[in-house]
Amino acid sequence: MNRVVALIVAAGKGERAGGDVPKQFRMLAGRPLVAHAFDRLAAHPGVDAVLVVGEEEPLRDALGDRPLLGIAPGGATRRLSVRAGLEAIEALGGADIVLIHDAARPFTPTAVIDRLLAPLETSPGAVPTLPVADTLAKHGAALGEVVDRDALVRVQTPQAFRFDDIMTSHRAWRAEQEPTDDAQMARAAGFDVALVAGDPMLEKITRAEDFAAAEARLGARSFRTGM
Ligand code: CTP
Ligand code: MG
Repeated sequence: MNRVVALIVAAGKGERAGGDVPKQFRMLAGRPLVAHAFDRLAAHPGVDAVLVVGEEEPLRDALGDRPLLGIAPGGATRRLSVRAGLEAIEALGGADIVLIHDAARPFTPTAVIDRLLAPLETSPGAVPTLPVADTLAKHGAALGEVVDRDALVRVQTPQAFRFDDIMTSHRAWRAEQEPTDDAQMARAAGFDVALVAGDPMLEKITRAEDFAAAEARLGARSFRTGM
């Protein structure tokens, strides 16, 4: 039996979204963002426990009586928040597989988690991706120089890893630049990461206007599927 633990990072300041409280605590369709993220992961039958990284008191307020493996204090960067969560999971009995997820992505479809867990039988990691639809061009001095979008994908979360491999990757990370996700660290440490199909529902809430777009996506999805 594989023990699957979800790790939600919710320790950011949400500077680009603005507002009185960090975006993970803002309400969206009647629930704080982090509660949506929690509920979609906890609802999957393959997920055994959920640990959240962030400030304890507002997280307890936002999550109410939802069952938590634990809350771990965050770090100064996303990487350090994930690292703190991995260390906490290890201290709480460990896991075989970890699903690392942004609190800022509220609506993880069940099918995406299915697609992430399947390749973990043979691959150390798996990430959800979407194709790039727009033309991409460099700005600044190289303005107008178009990048080949067919060679690119957009990478989302949750990202699934064998627990020991992503822990090793975090402990080995030495690069100057802060990584924006965990797949970068896994690859840098030499682990293969499978690409599976992502979903527009996983779009990250980054700016204030993204809340309205997320409500619209939720409304459209409920209308189609009764979710
Ligand atoms: N995050 C975290 N710890 C940090 C920074 C980010 O746990 N030190 C989390 C955020 O809470 C979010 C996810 O990582 O769920 C993705 O980060 P991002 O969208 O950049 O959120 P923020 O860093 O909060 O926003 P901003 O960069 O606009 O300040
Ligand atoms: Mg950030």
